[in-house]
Amino acid sequence: MAEDYAQFVQTQIAALKAEVGDAIAINALSGGVDSSVVTALGHRALGKQLKTVFVDNALMREGEPQYVVKVFRDIGIPVELIDAREEFLGALRGLTDPEEKRHAITDTFYAKVFGRLVKESGAKFLLHGTILTDIDETVAGIKRQHNILAQIGIDPEKQYGYRVIEPLDTLRKDGVRKVAALLGLPAEITERIPFPGPALAARIVGEVTPERLATVRAATTIVEEELGNTGAFQYFAVLLTDYATGIRNNQREFGQIIVVRCIESTDARTATVTRIGWDTLDRIAERITQIPNVNRCLYDLTPKPPATVEYV
Ligand code: XMP
Repeated sequence: MAEDYAQFVQTQIAALKAEVGDAIAINALSGGVDSSVVTALGHRALGKQLKTVFVDNALMREGEPQYVVKVFRDIGIPVELIDAREEFLGALRGLTDPEEKRHAITDTFYAKVFGRLVKESGAKFLLHGTILTDIDETVAGIKRQHNILAQIGIDPEKQYGYRVIEPLDTLRKDGVRKVAALLGLPAEITERIPFPGPALAARIVGEVTPERLATVRAATTIVEEELGNTGAFQYFAVLLTDYATGIRNNQREFGQIIVVRCIESTDARTATVTRIGWDTLDRIAERITQIPNVNRCLYDLTPKPPATVEYV
């Protein structure tokens, strides 16, 4: 099987070279395993002809943009960090509806920020980390993120003059991880837990503001530190819009509520709740309620279905 993946890498490198020729290609790295593999594969095939960008959309986990750029720099792949925080925060201002929030993020990314980057770079090709599962799920109507450009009414070739190449569209996640290892990507990238495209905005019920982002970001750091050794499929923190009464320094406080979610799953289509020990839950609650203006911490006991994994 290993030879098959080695063969896959060679075939894709040859195909990318043949298709791109001496043109410029561009790709957006998110730090997830799929876009990381596309980045590594693309750079093997195209070297300096591939421009890789990481767009900081203000919705990332603590230190994430700098971390991802550094991991790639350490393996010799330059990644340009694009600061688009104000643009995304502006697009999200005042929005509370989950679908409107998701749409604002997608639209800001593709139609504005990334569209501009493609134009500036003169790229004729866009490398995209779509995998076979994404295509299956789009066809089955489960996911709406695949081929997002067509869905928001953009024909990339007409509008921006670039073609989309999807080198991983015959692989599933396990295959992508094998290819990642063959390409020399470190385990810290290939073994990361899934993280959604809308990032922390998927974990903020209601409006996404810099203050609310700071709250959920701090809680996320705590949850990842405390649950990193569980081997669970996914674990994260969510900020609700509800408030509850509490007491801090002998004063009544009407504070915010953080939900901790930790699940077991193989493909995120269904999930069960991880049975975390009380000691760990106690520690998490103690740390999370030290975040300013957070005075309650809840553990989500709901499997998928009926709940989804994310809250937005
Ligand atoms: P749900 O919330 O639909 O999540 O049960 C299933 C899995 O998909 C992830 N997820 C996303 N991933 N873009 C992504 O790349 C998205 O918009 C998105 N929404 C959810 C979620 O983290 C879980 O692993």
